[in-house]
Amino acid sequence: MKTTILDISALTEDTLRRAQVFCEPDAVDMAIDAMEKIRRAAAVIRTGGLVAFPTETVYGLGADAFNTEAVSKVYAAKGRPSDNPMIVHIARASDLGVLTRTLTPRIVKLADNFWPGPLTMILEKRGAVPDVTTGGLDTVGVRLPDSPAAIELIRLAGTPIAAPSANLSGSPSPTKADHVIADLYGRVDMILAGPDSRIGIESTVVDVTGARAQILRPGVLAAEELAEVLGETVELDPALLRRDRGGEDGRGGAPPRAPGMKYKHYAPAAEMLVVEGNRSRVRDEIIRLKALNEKLGRKVGILLFEEQEYIEAAHGFYAVLRDLDNSDVDLIIAGALSETDGVGFAVMNRMMKSAGYNIVKV
Ligand code: TXA
Ligand code: MG
Repeated sequence: MKTTILDISALTEDTLRRAQVFCEPDAVDMAIDAMEKIRRAAAVIRTGGLVAFPTETVYGLGADAFNTEAVSKVYAAKGRPSDNPMIVHIARASDLGVLTRTLTPRIVKLADNFWPGPLTMILEKRGAVPDVTTGGLDTVGVRLPDSPAAIELIRLAGTPIAAPSANLSGSPSPTKADHVIADLYGRVDMILAGPDSRIGIESTVVDVTGARAQILRPGVLAAEELAEVLGETVELDPALLRRDRGGEDGRGGAPPRAPGMKYKHYAPAAEMLVVEGNRSRVRDEIIRLKALNEKLGRKVGILLFEEQEYIEAAHGFYAVLRDLDNSDVDLIIAGALSETDGVGFAVMNRMMKSAGYNIVKV
């Protein structure tokens, strides 16, 4: 398949402000050029094609959420299992009514406080939302992204856009246009090559259909932040607290409730090992394991984030995994983060999955 790459890297929040607020001529020209490209991309979505586009979390691979054939092509392009539902992206909160009939005060509060932003809400779906979009579930995940390119694309397409992360299924999520090109060139109609994703890990997924709100996938928005806005406790899917694969196939506990959380995910090609424990002992163990493996002739990469610098860790996590793969390391040794909520916990969730729960405790 021929893939058209359109460069919209100039469409940053800064350029937009310079164009819209200060009417700086070169910024206005850049914004107009980017908008024209997004218009072309919207036409591709409207005619049932696939477009990869930037969002603030990670890049998405979009199709018209109401076009069954287009959505099926997304599964094929990614090599994604078809029981794994997609997140449907909207351009304004008032579009929620197209996807669900049940708008509770809880949903309105979360939308008011966190949209546009890295929050996906699982809602009861309207009959019109195709089964292929929701992996056969009677619920639908909905998000209003905080990215001018994404919002404009959805608005101009005139339809909600179903979009998983724009990587090949199983490989690290894409936070740069180059990652998308590496994975999907030749497999999709168009790639909008924009700026790097500001956040770097996927949205927090919260199920608001039950008696208690429950987090199905951790992200930069913590359970505690949602709870504060809602004035009620927000639970974590118990499967998220397990540190072994047992939770993924249901052995020894309930499987995760978000279907996508049970697949091997975010994985680099290299073997990966997570060292967990007291920070100074973790450092020592990483140094020891590195030396040992190098003696055995293996190329070793290290992934160790500064303590408390979790926002930076989230921002760089996937890009570092891809860089290490590109430098042909055989083994990645990572230092665990010891957090139970928020950004650190969300990064840790990805780290465990990337490593296939290959953990040593020190
Ligand atoms: O930040 C993000 O959420 C990115 C950007 C592109 O918006 N999207 C993303 O999509 O991460 P994806 O498909 O890679 O992950 C969606 C996750 C999966 O774990 C999926 O199983 C879960 O959300 N999910 C989607 N709809 C669901 C539903 N109705 N019930 C339970 N889980 C659902
Ligand atoms: Mg994904």
